[in-house]
Amino acid sequence: MEYSRRKFISFLGKASLGAMVMPPFLISCGSTTTPIDTKNTSKEVLERLRRLTLEALPASDKDDLLLTKGLDYHTIIKWQDPISDKDTFGFNNDFTCFIPLDKNNPKDGLLWVNHESINPLYVSGYNHRKYKNPELNKTKEQVDKEMYDVGGSIVRIKEVNGRWKVVENDPYNRRITAKTPIELNWDSPIKGKTTVIGTHSNCSGGITPWNTFLTCEENYHDYYGETEYDGNNVATHKKSWHGWEHFNNYPTEHYGWVVEIDPKSGKAQKHVALGRFAHECCTLYELDDKRVVAYSGDDKNDEYLYKFISSKPGSLKDGTLYVADTINGKWLSLDWETQPILKQKFKDQTEVLIRVREAAELLGATELNRPEDIEIDPITGHILVTLTNNKPKGDYHGSILKIEETNGAFDALTFKASTYIAGGEENGFSCPDNLAFDLAGNLWMTSDISGSSMNRPDKPYYMPFKNNSLFVIPRYGEDAGKVIRVASAPRDAELTGPWFSPDGKTLFLSVQHPGERTTDLNNPTSKWPFDGDNIPKPAVVAITGDLIEKMNKLNLIES
Ligand code: FEO
Ligand code: CA
Ligand code: CA
Ligand code: CA
Repeated sequence: MEYSRRKFISFLGKASLGAMVMPPFLISCGSTTTPIDTKNTSKEVLERLRRLTLEALPASDKDDLLLTKGLDYHTIIKWQDPISDKDTFGFNNDFTCFIPLDKNNPKDGLLWVNHESINPLYVSGYNHRKYKNPELNKTKEQVDKEMYDVGGSIVRIKEVNGRWKVVENDPYNRRITAKTPIELNWDSPIKGKTTVIGTHSNCSGGITPWNTFLTCEENYHDYYGETEYDGNNVATHKKSWHGWEHFNNYPTEHYGWVVEIDPKSGKAQKHVALGRFAHECCTLYELDDKRVVAYSGDDKNDEYLYKFISSKPGSLKDGTLYVADTINGKWLSLDWETQPILKQKFKDQTEVLIRVREAAELLGATELNRPEDIEIDPITGHILVTLTNNKPKGDYHGSILKIEETNGAFDALTFKASTYIAGGEENGFSCPDNLAFDLAGNLWMTSDISGSSMNRPDKPYYMPFKNNSLFVIPRYGEDAGKVIRVASAPRDAELTGPWFSPDGKTLFLSVQHPGERTTDLNNPTSKWPFDGDNIPKPAVVAITGDLIEKMNKLNLIES
């Protein structure tokens, strides 16, 4: 099962080397597409591309989406825009993923967008700064509004004359919300249910080899709290921030999973076998025999990195979940049957998966500094994992972890871990979050300095970076390996969900939580996207331009 670039390309099964317009999507949390052929490209063109240098955008605290020279953007959809006669686009969009309806037409397809969280001030009018007890001060109507604005959206979009537009009322347009019934892909019920109600906390995600979306439930404890166990294994309920558990009888164990969505039918299922934790994303690799390997990180201080290896082709249920010991380079099995230490504490595999953080700790997994997005480098096969930060441990700027599976085999049980690049002033970025490789293998990265830390003189270590940004790390040319800022987010916002269109000409990107620190709706901290009503709105934009097109052609050099 050794890795080779050609194998990586062929596993996509979507195209062969040499076609000029490349296939849509890669099995990954972001979007890598396949390199294109060089045979018809002149040496002069290749040389010109090799010399392409990027103009870095300086750090900025301006309330706007700023782009470097050669890039342009237009807004595709924003919070509350209608997607059909009955549904509107949700709040705080994160992960985006585009699947063309016809693989020969990269300009018409279904866009999945995660709605990670809600800011009650905007969504329900509940003032969480004034009231501390939602169970006393929030109404059922407010909770219902909040439940509608999380989950995800499927919208059909088309590019016409260089601009992407939503096809309003397209039959495929639909919302998945915190009220949508979702089946558990598992043989045993969880808290008595085989179908649970809703999804929320949908942060990043991925795509499967069979062309469905994966959306990952991250900070689930904010909505229905968490069940905590003391030394005697006695459970208590820790209250949530949003207080939904006071209005709905849905156990928190129904959340914290990887959710798969069929793009056309909207049918959803939760994959229990992948474990329950604050899943940032889920990045899949399909082996030659069609079994799949799924990588996912738990975005919490001192939590872990996991990998699932299926035992049957195309299954996200049958197989084994492992957790990383990055010090010794081992994937540790979380299989109840074969791990006596797990048998001692948990009654069965279902309980191991529900309380997988505790199981991982028992096995001696390595605590990491908030593992977030994961991408597989299409050229080297290395697995890159962003580690955002770990402030209590003094890691303010984070880093990117590189995993090299033994012999490049994704189902290996040993690996080598090292730091790919560290955040900080020297490298020009802090708090890495989302990653995406483009057609040429350039790495695009977004940052997530939290709203409460950004541009604050009392947090001087973050001051030089100003607003959150989008960066590119070119693979070729004079700037190879440098971290270059190419976009700067509006005030308080984070840029998320980078995903390239199949032809590599558009970068879909979410602008999440502009104006997050607003306390008075009459005086918001951001007014982006400046659509006239002076309320900041999360939105998905399409970034296009000469620079993206040139960057994506740089792969011509190596093919
Ligand atoms: Fe929702 Fe880990 O970012
Ligand atoms: Ca990604
Ligand atoms: Ca994230
Ligand atoms: Ca984050």
